Amino acid sequence: MLADILDRACLAPSVGNSQPWRLVRVNSMDKRAAVMENFKACNHDALQDYDGEQAKTYAQLKLAGLQEAPVHLAVFSDGDPEQGHGLGRKTMPEMLYYSTACMVMSLWLQARAREVGVGWVSILEPKVVGDILEVSSEWPLIAYLCIGYPQTQDNAPELERLGWQARSSEGRKVIIR
Ligand SMILES: Cc1cc2nc3c(=O)[nH]c(=O)nc-3n(C[C@H](O)[C@H](O)[C@H](O)COP(=O)(O)O)c2cc1C
Repeated sequence: MLADILDRACLAPSVGNSQPWRLVRVNSMDKRAAVMENFKACNHDALQDYDGEQAKTYAQLKLAGLQEAPVHLAVFSDGDPEQGHGLGRKTMPEMLYYSTACMVMSLWLQARAREVGVGWVSILEPKVVGDILEVSSEWPLIAYLCIGYPQTQDNAPELERLGWQARSSEGRKVIIR
């Protein structure tokens, strides 16, 4: 099923059809443990940014499924792929990263259509993860994905339910010029 999800996700649009995403499936328990260590350190560090009630709430949030997820998938983006011949990224080179993010979103939808859950972990140091997984330093980390069947389902985001941040209408406003 994972192969099928990935095949379809990789049909995502990309700048110049460059398909800059580079995928690493992390099976090694040693490498998973090293990623988990980095997550713990980064999460501990992030907690220091909050005080009082907010710090208490933050400490209770589950911000990664690294321990539980059967599939760990690291998604990198090639910083200068041959494919696409530079089309569309002369003035906005960051389009490569956005293309990789499009692929992640496609993967997410393909997974959810099969009742599979995806958690995107960003509380990591990209360079450290790249070193753990022994990939080129020219491949920035875009996403570290925890993939598996969720234990529970809910229509409201967990961060809303736990009082961190509710959905708001701000992003739905359209400015007319
Ligand atoms: C760019 C991006 C980064 C994210 N980083 C994290 C993260 O570090 N930790 C976390 O718990 N959720 C993070 N999330 C949110 C979750 O991955 C996701 O919304 C959550 O697992 C719930 O899954 P669902 O949206 O399918 O219900 C991130 C989401 C995005 C889009």
